[in-house]
Amino acid sequence: MKKVITLATSKGGAGKTTLARSLACHWFNVGIKVGVIDADPQGSIINRHNPEGPLKDLLIIAQPEEIVDNTIADMKENCSIVLVDTGGFRNRTTIKALIATDIALIPLKPSADDVSGAIETYNLIKELNETPERVDNPIKYRMILTMTQQGTVISRHVRDELKSMGYFMLESELYHRVAYPEAAIQGLSPSLTDPESPAARDISRIVGEINNLL
Ligand SMILES: Nc1ncnc2c1ncn2[C@@H]1O[C@H](COP(=O)(O)OP(=O)(O)OP(=O)(O)O)[C@@H](O)[C@H]1O
Ligand SMILES: [Mg+2]
Repeated sequence: MKKVITLATSKGGAGKTTLARSLACHWFNVGIKVGVIDADPQGSIINRHNPEGPLKDLLIIAQPEEIVDNTIADMKENCSIVLVDTGGFRNRTTIKALIATDIALIPLKPSADDVSGAIETYNLIKELNETPERVDNPIKYRMILTMTQQGTVISRHVRDELKSMGYFMLESELYHRVAYPEAAIQGLSPSLTDPESPAARDISRIVGEINNLL
């Protein structure tokens, strides 16, 4: 079973890179053959990666060009899960990555702009699913709330609204926790820096839901 998961949304700063890094660290830590493609021209993942650190054996490739689909195909040879972190929206690289994807994860903070970005991204996926390449094998997607304060009215409100409009959402959220930016300084995530932490447990729950989709 080889699966490609792409993180995408038209809204900047929604948590794509943090989620990509968190998923990669979790799967790497439990011995799954995971690889990461940094398709963001900013190189947010690759620039923080320490090739001598705990992730030295994790396969990470920067590929911000539209040949990203070839890079995905190559990485699938060696990995069970390929994670793609995207930057620009509706550029050829992101579109090529989505076309080669099994599951698209759309992160959004509980804010109006992030909701618009998530819906815009859903609309792009819907468009791609009508193309000959994907009409018989549609890209699955899930929206996921990020940087939420546990139990706040705003995140419940956004979740209820999106669900009532018929969008698919993960039940788990990437709660706002300082552990993420702290671990990111070294290009890591709480699953590696503090495996017993609440943040690491949040990631385990998110992974559990994603595993059910794979
Ligand atoms: N769950 C979280 N808790 C606390 N801080 C977070 C969380 N998720 C992300 N952040 C912080 O929010 C900022 C934006 O997150 P991130 O870089 O993951 O978003 P992005 O969607 O990849 O942004 P870009 O559009 O620039 O690629 C970063 O500083 C990150 O450390
Ligand atoms: Mg990013």
